[in-house]
Amino acid sequence: MCGLSFRNITALAPMVRVGTLPMRLLALDYGADVVYCEVRIDYNVIKTVRVPEVLDTVDFVAPDERVMFRTCEREKDRVVFQMGTADPDRALIVAKLVEQDVAAVDVNMGCPKEYSTKGGMGAALLSDPDKIVAILQKLVSGVSIPVTCKIRILPSLEETVSLVRRIEKTGVAAVAVHGRLKEERPRHPLHLDHIQAAARAVSIPVIANGGSLDLVKTNSDIEAFRRASGASSVMLARAAMWNASVFMEGGPLPLEAVMEDYLKHAIRYNNHAFNTKYCLCQMLRDKVESPLGKQLQAAQTTQEISEAFGLQEFYQQIQDQLQVKRNSLQSCSQL
Ligand code: FNR
Repeated sequence: MCGLSFRNITALAPMVRVGTLPMRLLALDYGADVVYCEVRIDYNVIKTVRVPEVLDTVDFVAPDERVMFRTCEREKDRVVFQMGTADPDRALIVAKLVEQDVAAVDVNMGCPKEYSTKGGMGAALLSDPDKIVAILQKLVSGVSIPVTCKIRILPSLEETVSLVRRIEKTGVAAVAVHGRLKEERPRHPLHLDHIQAAARAVSIPVIANGGSLDLVKTNSDIEAFRRASGASSVMLARAAMWNASVFMEGGPLPLEAVMEDYLKHAIRYNNHAFNTKYCLCQMLRDKVESPLGKQLQAAQTTQEISEAFGLQEFYQQIQDQLQVKRNSLQSCSQL
């Protein structure tokens, strides 16, 4: 198997609502090597139709017209599609659907939310290693792109080590280890010893995750986290959500510049206004009650969000470009 390598990389972690196309492009701009999309549930993805779009994106659109996954050429060799699944056959159908548009597929084995676990997905898989193996083997033998998974740790070091060894044997390209138990919340301290033990136990790349709160605040902390964890690679969720320029050498940049860069991608790729607003609010954190935060919260459309950030001219320019493109596509189709 060839393609994307997970050795010695820094990745944007999968994040529901946050990991949509604008955030992934932003992370790539700032130096992330690999970007994961938000987790998508297998039976929802199976119902989607693949649509090449006027924006130069590829959209996977649900029957109710919702875009389940939007991607573009720029990230094609860097984006990992994360799925929530509890069924090898369904997992393979999903992987086949997205295979030509993404660099790798990942299986979520850490989500503790009820919507995942009640269907046997996410962290529920951690208590069913035979199911983990069945899903991963099916994917590895069924698709031509790399397969990875993201786990949480188990109660003892021995159990964590034994799980990553079983995972390695399935032929996956890498395993991301979030160093917390499934019952633990993001504010709980990280169990670095489990990530270290996992990294020692297998020869595939281990991607260390869970360091955002205490360990990674600036770009140089990423390398320190990598070394401390003994892992090959590092994956960041919250540190990147708060300020994606943490991926940049010498980063992070001032938040205002990062928010503007984010919003430009959101405008270019016609991101859903509510999703854009949500991500910008996450970046503002405790400044969400500032005058800018209040203006942002009142905004209902991408145009209004653009106005709040003084980007109305940029917004208009992109709308004009898109209209020209639509017109030329229309006249081509009439020939
Ligand atoms: C997450 N996390 C997560 N994990 C996953 O495998 N799939 C997902 O879709 C999500 N969604 C998600 C949304 C948001 C808003 C957050 C903050 C987190 C977990 C995430 O990838 C990561 O494992 C943890 O946040 C720990 O890493 P950090 O934040 O310490 O870098």
